[in-house]
Amino acid sequence: MPKVTIDGQTIEVPNGTTILEAARMIGGKSVPPAMCYYSKLKETGGYCRTCIVNVSKGSEKDPRPMPKPVPSCRTTVMDGMEVQNLTSPALLEARAGVVEFLLLNHPLDCPICDQAGECHLQDLGYENGKSKTRYEFARREFEPIDIGEKIKLHMKRCIHCFRCVKLADQLTPNRYQGMLNRGDHSEISTYIQHAVDNEFSGNMIDVCPVGALTDKTFRFKSRVWFVKPEDAHRKCPTCAGKARIWLKGEEVLRVTGRKDKYGEVIDWICNECRFDKKKTSDWVIEGPTHIDHHSVISMNHYETLVDLKHETDNHRKQLTNKKVNLGQGALDPNNS
Ligand code: SF4
Ligand code: FES
Repeated sequence: MPKVTIDGQTIEVPNGTTILEAARMIGGKSVPPAMCYYSKLKETGGYCRTCIVNVSKGSEKDPRPMPKPVPSCRTTVMDGMEVQNLTSPALLEARAGVVEFLLLNHPLDCPICDQAGECHLQDLGYENGKSKTRYEFARREFEPIDIGEKIKLHMKRCIHCFRCVKLADQLTPNRYQGMLNRGDHSEISTYIQHAVDNEFSGNMIDVCPVGALTDKTFRFKSRVWFVKPEDAHRKCPTCAGKARIWLKGEEVLRVTGRKDKYGEVIDWICNECRFDKKKTSDWVIEGPTHIDHHSVISMNHYETLVDLKHETDNHRKQLTNKKVNLGQGALDPNNS
């Protein structure tokens, strides 16, 4: 069992574990962000570079540091390895550069994008990006297209993470969709506009980290923070039937897969559950969903209203104290 130290925290992990998986085993703030890696799909990762870390000691046998930051989702742990994530300012600067690259062609259309509030790129930008871009050129433009009857593709929002391609490859036989062209010209396409009509194709909406693939049955119906997520299940002949329903009053506005704290789907759901079961009577409601993922969607969450109030009161008290201190300081004639 190799031992790895990430930001000063040591853990023993099974052979073959990647640095990202080891960081997730430790948990907390040292877990690098991941925009293309998806633990529920094979051969993901290595495309986006948001998960880069510094390896300050290669291993016990060969303690030399790695010369450049490495993608943690694709780098296997060695015994005695020491890794810096939050503890390296140079690494954080490099990650801010990656975020800047991801945003080069991404439109700033969050106010009208259905993914706003649960968008991993939004979170990544807030937590790891810079407030300004140096990019002055026109962004890539594409007309939105239909991928099948129920999915809309906004190619201009795509960050080329390949998750939807891997999902289509691994979950749906007869895949028609893939990445066309290379570099700045790459785009997700259904080739000759073939419909992706497999019964699990809707899951590509859930794996898309941005608003490039959206659910046509939910588009523009509500901002996600105005709807109430509940865990629910039903007897389904095609999938496990364990889903998350998003309610506005008694109305089911959308159905998605349940996601873990890294925003990854726990059980894939079929298109019938996702697109056709839009009545509360179709579902056995288990209770409010606990949203673990740090995002605007969890900020105003009904589940934590009491705690939030408590926190707000504390915060207000702190601010009031500060104001009093500032006031006293300002009134002190000896204070220049
Ligand atoms: S459409 Fe979404 S899931 Fe597919 S490559 Fe683009 S960003 Fe990734
Ligand atoms: S998550 Fe590792 S390169 Fe994208």
